[in-house]
Amino acid sequence: MSSSADDCAVMVRVDESPASEAATLLDGGVVSLRRLDLDDLDSIIALSESLTESERYFRFFTAYPTYLKSWARSLAERSNKQFALGAFESGRLIGVASYFMCNEPGCAEVAIVVAHQEHMRGVGTVLLGRLGQIARQNGLDRFVADVLAENFLMRKVMSDAGWPCTIHADGSELRVDINLAELPQ
Ligand SMILES: CC(C)(COP(=O)(O)OP(=O)(O)OC[C@H]1O[C@@H](n2cnc3c(N)ncnc32)[C@H](O)[C@@H]1OP(=O)(O)O)[C@@H](O)C(=O)NCCC(=O)NCCS
Repeated sequence: MSSSADDCAVMVRVDESPASEAATLLDGGVVSLRRLDLDDLDSIIALSESLTESERYFRFFTAYPTYLKSWARSLAERSNKQFALGAFESGRLIGVASYFMCNEPGCAEVAIVVAHQEHMRGVGTVLLGRLGQIARQNGLDRFVADVLAENFLMRKVMSDAGWPCTIHADGSELRVDINLAELPQ
């Protein structure tokens, strides 16, 4: 990757997102959304430990990921190449949506994980919606994600997020491409 001034300018774009903000879930519950940091490391690990084997398989493409601690640290260690947004209910971390910038300019790989007992309340939907807006503010215009074809809930959350979304099948995996440049419908 060339180190021209333009690249550097893009790389150091200031994070404009407010400290934390309230959001209402589909079931009427209210959560607080904020960027994660190193103080949240234990909460991120606890959230990943709440997942069932199949949920871990859906998120990490293996039921027994050996790198949960380094994964949690990659979310908690802020940088201008990533952004991890947490949803908190009564101070407890119940979901995380994160993006890591790809080598391709304007593109980032997105992933979501919600605590097992909090599924189907709208947490994933609220997190993806807000992270998409923040990504736009930070100069990104595409989210990509590899999703297992059998992960219908994640497919629904991504295809119903409102942005144009294309899906390319590759065996048991789908490459989902969300165009953030268009306003959500
Ligand atoms: C996949 C995952 C992130 C989805 O998050 P979630 O919080 O369960 O999803 P949501 O509740 O926001 O939405 C799921 C669907 O339920 C619906 N729903 C949620 N709450 C609802 C409610 N109270 N009433 C009616 N419908 C509701 C949503 O509308 C959505 O359907 P839609 O997309 O047609 O609108 C979560 O299930 C998870 O963490 N799974 C394990 C890890 C994983 O697979 N991660 C993705 C890897 S790429």
